[in-house]
Amino acid sequence: MERLDKFLSDAGVASRRELKTLLKTGAVQVNGRPAPDGAAKIDPAADLVTFRGAPVERPRRVVLMLHKPAGYVTSTEDPRDRTVMELIPDRYRRQNVVPVGRLDKDTEGLLLLTNDGELAHRLISPRRGVEKRYYARHEGTATEEDTAAFAAGLSLRDGTLCRPAVLKPLGPGESEITVTEGKYHQVRRMMASRGLPVTYLRRDREGSLFLSSLPAGECRELTEAEIAAVDAADAAKR
Ligand code: URA
Repeated sequence: MERLDKFLSDAGVASRRELKTLLKTGAVQVNGRPAPDGAAKIDPAADLVTFRGAPVERPRRVVLMLHKPAGYVTSTEDPRDRTVMELIPDRYRRQNVVPVGRLDKDTEGLLLLTNDGELAHRLISPRRGVEKRYYARHEGTATEEDTAAFAAGLSLRDGTLCRPAVLKPLGPGESEITVTEGKYHQVRRMMASRGLPVTYLRRDREGSLFLSSLPAGECRELTEAEIAAVDAADAAKR
């Protein structure tokens, strides 16, 4: 069972606020009867909801994994730059998918987009502690002291405290970094605070999802099993 106003706003009929007035006009009917109260509970699988005579259908949930190339901003609109939405096929844009969290313009890699607002909220909530793994090329070479400082929780140049994170040096000028939060320019600022400025950054993993061989600039739909796995893995950490 779910609230009628939530069902209608998720289906794109109108915003929760607009619905208040709309419902009073009798434009929405449930099983043939005017339904003036947005708080009323309906069973979307069993009840027939109509708006101005036409059936209202629950939009299908879509979760996309995009391999974001550098040069695109994570935003639905931008006056100057190309946005990640330009890389998404029209049929998905029509289903109102939006980015979950963000990657900087110059960062590449795994970016999720979805039309399920609650799932998006769960995935970006720092309380969920979803692990995000990055591959970085940088100046200098990371040392054991850098790894220990990441593990202890870094204090950035402006005083921002970071949660403990994993820094794995891969060789001169190359490291893997795993964080569980998403502060502004987080990885670049963490690395800069250790004198290791980043020159290339790519996100390879988010929770149980890996970028794998998805080519840059392309996206694919996640299966329900993959969505359930990200959700369950993160729920276990709450
Ligand atoms: N950290 C950064 O600095 N940039 C990103 O895009 C993601 C994480």
